Amino acid sequence: MSRIAYVNGQYVLHGEGAVHIEDRGYQFADGIYEVISIDKGRFIDEEAHLDRLDRSLDELRIAWPMSRRAMKLVMRQVVKRNLVRDGLIYLQITRGVAPREHGFPKKRMQPSLVMTAKTLKPAPKDQPNDTGVAVISTPDIRWSRPDIKSVALLPNVLCKEKAHAAGAFEAWLVDGEGFVTEGSSTNAWIVTKDNQVVTRDFDKHILNGITRQAFVKLMAENGFTLVQRKFTVAEALAAKEAFVTSSTARIKAVVSIDGQPVGNGHPGETVARLRALYWDAVEDGGPLPKTPTDIREKH
Ligand code: PDD
Repeated sequence: MSRIAYVNGQYVLHGEGAVHIEDRGYQFADGIYEVISIDKGRFIDEEAHLDRLDRSLDELRIAWPMSRRAMKLVMRQVVKRNLVRDGLIYLQITRGVAPREHGFPKKRMQPSLVMTAKTLKPAPKDQPNDTGVAVISTPDIRWSRPDIKSVALLPNVLCKEKAHAAGAFEAWLVDGEGFVTEGSSTNAWIVTKDNQVVTRDFDKHILNGITRQAFVKLMAENGFTLVQRKFTVAEALAAKEAFVTSSTARIKAVVSIDGQPVGNGHPGETVARLRALYWDAVEDGGPLPKTPTDIREKH
């Protein structure tokens, strides 16, 4: 079966999808994106993702290319036309096409919208042979607004590549004061020896992951002690457990940092418990509210 992409109003063969050479996304990374996981044909935490998309657009003063309702219809078409049952949908919106000038174009812009979907093997709820993943630490070389889900991901790409070159799954980014911000494409967490789950507070130095928000909610509902504060790599190495979260990774135990073991060097019980809770919530479309928190319909 051929993959189908949605590109500016048309469903096209994936290999033939193209945008204009003066698209500002191509020239300036002037755009934003979302990645939403699909589980048994359902989007996980769809409304929360669209709320964040709305926030990213607002921050960059890019208009919605179509209404939120129309966007949801197109998302469903893309999933259907690609016969995806388990996998992900990728949405990208850029400011649009204009002669290359740094400032925003004077004319009213039609933002470019691209969507693709792909099938991924569904992650199993029980992972008895889970060995966890390794991370490395590296300076956070990104701009100061990583809270915006912008397509300007070159620092993330370089850090991820550094992790892969070291045989690790992820790079934990460390700010100028020695605190971990987040991973290059995941949020970072630790579990202290006295069972406090710690993750950085949402302070514009991280992306407020939808999966992060989902786990915050699940922890509050299930008696976990969560503290949202900064932590260092040294603290993570002294922790009982560590893990990362994202829409695609869901939750993965971190068993080593820079080649040194975390805890006993094996995935721990906190991650196993959280995984079970998340998998159950996903059966119902995800842990987060099913109604948009921001109901502004643009256009
Ligand atoms: N990455 N932090 C960064 C820098 C990210 O790029 C991501 C997501 C996350 C986790 O966010 P969420 O839980 O909403 O997926 C945190 C996506 C999956 C990507 O770029 O492919």
